[in-house]
Amino acid sequence: MNRYLRFMVIGLLLWLVSPAASAQQDRRVGDSRPISPDLFGIFFEDLSYAADGGLYAEMIQNRSFEYTPADRSGWNAFTAWKYLKWGYGYGEVTVKTNDPISPNNPHYVVLDIEEPGSGVGLSNAGYGGIPVKAGAQYYFSVFMRRLSREEVPVTVRVQGQKGQVYAEAHFTVGAGDWKKYTDTLTVTTTDEDAELVLIGKGTGRLAIDEVSLFPKNTFKHRRNGMRADLAQAIADLKPAFMRFPGGCLVHGDGLANMYRWKNTIGPVEQRKGQRNIWNYHQSAGLGFFEYFQFCEDIGAKPVPVVAAAVSCQNSGGSWRIGSTGQRALPMNKMKDYIQDILDLVEYANGPVTSEWGAKRAAAGHPEPFHLEYIGIGNEDKITPQFESRFKMIYEAVHKKYPGITLIGTVGPFHDGADYEKGWALADKIHIAMVDEHYYEDPAWFLNNQYRYDHYDRSKSKVYLGEYASRGNTLYNALCEAAYMTSLERNGDVVWMASYAPLLARVGHTSWNPDLIYFTKTEVFPTVNYDVQQLFSLNAGNRYYPDVIDFKYKDSAFAASCVTDSLGTVIIKIVNAGAKKNVAQLHMDAFGKLDPKAKLTVLTGNPRAKNTVKQPHHVMPRERDLQVKNKMTYEVPPYSLSVIRINTNERSF
Ligand code: AHR
Repeated sequence: MNRYLRFMVIGLLLWLVSPAASAQQDRRVGDSRPISPDLFGIFFEDLSYAADGGLYAEMIQNRSFEYTPADRSGWNAFTAWKYLKWGYGYGEVTVKTNDPISPNNPHYVVLDIEEPGSGVGLSNAGYGGIPVKAGAQYYFSVFMRRLSREEVPVTVRVQGQKGQVYAEAHFTVGAGDWKKYTDTLTVTTTDEDAELVLIGKGTGRLAIDEVSLFPKNTFKHRRNGMRADLAQAIADLKPAFMRFPGGCLVHGDGLANMYRWKNTIGPVEQRKGQRNIWNYHQSAGLGFFEYFQFCEDIGAKPVPVVAAAVSCQNSGGSWRIGSTGQRALPMNKMKDYIQDILDLVEYANGPVTSEWGAKRAAAGHPEPFHLEYIGIGNEDKITPQFESRFKMIYEAVHKKYPGITLIGTVGPFHDGADYEKGWALADKIHIAMVDEHYYEDPAWFLNNQYRYDHYDRSKSKVYLGEYASRGNTLYNALCEAAYMTSLERNGDVVWMASYAPLLARVGHTSWNPDLIYFTKTEVFPTVNYDVQQLFSLNAGNRYYPDVIDFKYKDSAFAASCVTDSLGTVIIKIVNAGAKKNVAQLHMDAFGKLDPKAKLTVLTGNPRAKNTVKQPHHVMPRERDLQVKNKMTYEVPPYSLSVIRINTNERSF
């Protein structure tokens, strides 16, 4: 070694142990930023059969005979039902509304059996065939009222298309008012296309309503609960929060269609279903109690959204320049409307001795649901009518419950008039957080990775409540991943973020893309789901700049370095382009690293999708990776790499 080189090496060694070097390391740690504990969550809306016919495990379609042509042209109270007459039996079936179980559930069916033959009754094949499994148990229930003097024996069956009987129960309908009849049916045969049959075997008149069949095996075995496989796919995302029940569904298609949470609690037969803005029917079987309970079951903070007392600006499809379909609740109705929102907080958090806390306890949950957030409004047009009502709600709820974080709304786009006006209102009245929405092409997400770096930290926090890159290819997912590294970098101002929409039933999708597709028996998470999951399972609580340097710089390359509360260093590296790259990792600030790290890589053909035909086309792969404080990482084309490194530290 020549003198000059020796001098350099000694100099370097001295520098490494010098205060300057540790200051450099400290500076890295010091420059780190906190990341919101609630950054990555989910947004659930009853869209594309996400609730009825989806997550809500009820197997009977139109169970309470409440479908109407307003839900969908051609639908009526008897939609999804068939009238049956077996073995020369005959009679009549009519829909009635006098003396219903509840005024909220006005329609029911009367079966008038003149000659029973081998039976006269009804059948329902659910949502395109009821899938049952051999050996599994199903809770059946029905409300019936005898309208004739004769006793009418009733048989209920789960059966196949050719009449094969898989399970059966018998009832005799006694005299008197509506009564609930129940039984647990154990099915003998697996069949994806079964139906439920309810058949009268004697002469007489019977009123029938609220016919229900639920798998016993719902998620966490909840009664009136969630479809286990779909719920598990959602739970596997480990979302920090769940926003519900919408979306446009919340502010509704006109004032009468606005979502009212009080209509969705209590005994299911007394809930008030209504038209779903997405052109079908919402039974309200999945109501606010079930939403709160599901959030608790999956460890997600509940984020209910209430309308800002205005309907969707697209109500009646009339949103044109210069006109709006937005309708505002009359001022004389605002007091009651605001009370409903205050009652929602009491329902979630109030003591069992309070009026609404008692209703929660009566539903089986005396403990509070620990509500921390409420969204007010959904990407509304920011009109004077909206502003005045929003302010009234905001001030009243904030005054009574200052500990609840209220989330405002800044229109449906990432810029433009409503975005500007929404933010101006947020600045003026100091809204704690605002909800931004945008659906864009993948390139937009790559080109706007610095959007939040420029946000003023003294203003409202951001909830990115809806975003997606308009596609389910690997390329889409990688562009979202690149953007998500920027959300981590700005996790001090972007408090929460949720991809949208979450669920869509194949054959009933009103909106594409979605995160999870499903059929009556299967669940198809997309590659976008893999990205969301990789980020939520690898979330951190501090972000570190300057750890990752790319050899080639381009908007296709993005990276983040975060640490979690256990002192794990988590590096995410995204390459949304065809060119390989090399990333230099500078991890001196993290002290001694466990050299054996875990690497997960999601990569493949950028056009590849996980579809019903090829559900596992692109999947993340995990392997060990040797790491050291200074190292290089070869970044494959079209890839997301996640490196998890254990350290000696508990936290940084
Ligand atoms: O996520 C689908 C829809 O997109 C939501 O209902 C609405 O808020 C947005 O326009």
